[in-house]
Amino acid sequence: MAIIQTYPTAEVLAHAAAELFVTLAQESIRDHGHFSVALAGGSTPRAMYKNLATIEFTQQVNWERVYIFWSDERCVPPESEDSNYHMARDAFLKYVAIPPENILRMQGEIKPHQAAQSYEETLTHFFAPKPTRFDLILLGMGDDGHTASIFPATPAIHEAEKLVMAQYVDKLESWRITFTPALINAAANVAFLVSGEKKAYRLRQVIVGRYQPDQLPAQIVRPAVGKLRWLLDEAAAIHVTSTQI
Ligand code: 6PG
Repeated sequence: MAIIQTYPTAEVLAHAAAELFVTLAQESIRDHGHFSVALAGGSTPRAMYKNLATIEFTQQVNWERVYIFWSDERCVPPESEDSNYHMARDAFLKYVAIPPENILRMQGEIKPHQAAQSYEETLTHFFAPKPTRFDLILLGMGDDGHTASIFPATPAIHEAEKLVMAQYVDKLESWRITFTPALINAAANVAFLVSGEKKAYRLRQVIVGRYQPDQLPAQIVRPAVGKLRWLLDEAAAIHVTSTQI
């Protein structure tokens, strides 16, 4: 099941995304004592993260029960401006009372394949003895239809065994670590945050176009039993209406 939620501006989208985070955190903590969430990288979610650092939101969450992961990472050191960890830490993690041991970043500074294997071990250990099933996975979408670091025509699209993998992305001339479709589609909730007219045409292709995940990897996100939400601003949603899925 997929839901499209459209908001007038990127700012309203960011506020709504923070509200969703808080709602799912409260529900998850009530249900099973903690909230496991994988953050998206890129620029779009930053405004959401900054909202989470405001008193309006910080006081609504029992942060000691929150466990923070990432759905992908660039293979750079944690202090790099390109690091998704660095962006989230500066936007909100350093402002909320999450115990440091609850923040489990991908190690972009070590060998990519070693980092991917180590992160997969971290995930399976965290969720054991239950399956590796996040309460929430946040995702963005690039204007080429990629999500996390699953880019067009890359092996991650068809990875059926691993939960986390490293891959070299030719167009970026760099290594990335990413959740695989299997891990994403096992989540209880998956939420895309997509903003801006630049992505509108690709978004329509992804949501209502022919299924072609090699060209449009975001299409591979089809949670088996979890809920999929598309949180869009009106600029990104100009070619998509909520009646279309
Ligand atoms: C990354 C992200 C990537 C991102 C999209 C959208 O590491 O860059 O995980 O998948 O979500 O590229 O990025 P923007 O939000 O910057 O448009």
